[in-house]
Amino acid sequence: MLTAAFQSAPDGIDPARVPYRDIYTGARIPAIGLGTFGSDHASPDLIADAVREALRLGYRHVDCASVYDNEHAIGPVLQAAVREGLPRKDLWITSKLWNDKHAEADVIPACRKSLADLRLDYLDLYLVHWPFPNFHPPGCTVESRSPDAKPYIHEHFMKTWRQMEKLVDLGLVRHIGTSNMTIPKLKLLLRDARIKPAANEMELHPHLQQQELFDFVRGQGIVPIGYCPIGSPGRPERDRTPEDTVDLEDPVIVRIANRLGLHPASVCIKWAVQRGQIPIPFSTKRRNILSNLQAATGEPLTAQDMADLARIDRNCRLIKGHVFLWKEGQTWEALWDMDGVITPP
Ligand SMILES: NC(=O)c1ccc[n+]([C@@H]2O[C@H](COP(=O)([O-])OP(=O)(O)OC[C@H]3O[C@@H](n4cnc5c(N)ncnc54)[C@H](OP(=O)(O)O)[C@@H]3O)[C@@H](O)[C@H]2O)c1
Repeated sequence: MLTAAFQSAPDGIDPARVPYRDIYTGARIPAIGLGTFGSDHASPDLIADAVREALRLGYRHVDCASVYDNEHAIGPVLQAAVREGLPRKDLWITSKLWNDKHAEADVIPACRKSLADLRLDYLDLYLVHWPFPNFHPPGCTVESRSPDAKPYIHEHFMKTWRQMEKLVDLGLVRHIGTSNMTIPKLKLLLRDARIKPAANEMELHPHLQQQELFDFVRGQGIVPIGYCPIGSPGRPERDRTPEDTVDLEDPVIVRIANRLGLHPASVCIKWAVQRGQIPIPFSTKRRNILSNLQAATGEPLTAQDMADLARIDRNCRLIKGHVFLWKEGQTWEALWDMDGVITPP
């Protein structure tokens, strides 16, 4: 059957120019992806339009998740792109298992649901979104706690992981990975996994560089995927605290951006790609979707710029995860194993 050719935008970037990162399986993942978390403001249809535009502009990597509640809108866009001649093998589609589906019986059906919504036969990457089975109503406040919330229990996580491994065996996903993990949790997983994680998605921007975790992940042959790569300026009010710093206003970033005649967001993207993580910036604006891809493929920053940016880490975590805490009186740091050991129950 003849299909209409997939229409790439004339001002887009040739996907062959986009750098790739090697996965330990031999697969290659595009070094920039489009984020699809619309927070409280971007509707599923708006995000589906952004995905369509991103594919036309040269993106081949889309970061999805069932909890973003828009996979059903993104699916028809992916299906149409493939029908119109964009080879499925050229796409890299990630989805994530939400916290309420960690039970052994729930993992495979949850993945099948994402596949059906995204209208795909397989995912390139399926992540355990958080290492906790704790969930909360969408849009709830930071103080909100689930009475059933639990700490990290490795035996429980491994039960979930065994099902993730089964997804690979079943051919439903090509790679599995983690998100929001810490070094001690990853060490246990690496000890016990039959199929090791291909990627770890983690918050990474110039004001949260997580150097130790970043080095650990890369040292284990795991690809770091960086979320909030430009400091998530559009995140909801509930994810903001007075101590938060603003990457886009950092004098070093602004100085480099001014010198290059770029938006500070482009400096964040260049820094991320050059450092070796995969940024997944979110945008619903064509201009920004394109400029982020241009940043990933254009002139690199100088060694001096990279050294200057390495020095502006403020250890400023934006997505603190309060709502996943399991005990009264805890602070968000408990989720991140700050002392290098898993926070006791
Ligand atoms: N694994 C996890 O737990 C986790 C957690 C958080 C996020 N994520 C993933 O990471 C993705 C990115 O994170 P994020 O959306 O929080 O943060 P982000 O990508 O750092 O920031 C997105 C915001 O920046 C603006 N923006 C994007 N490009 C821009 C540009 N070139 N110039 C100026 N403004 C620009 C966007 O607004 P406009 O729409 O106006 O351009 C949007 O408000 C999410 O969409 C999601 O896929 C994963």
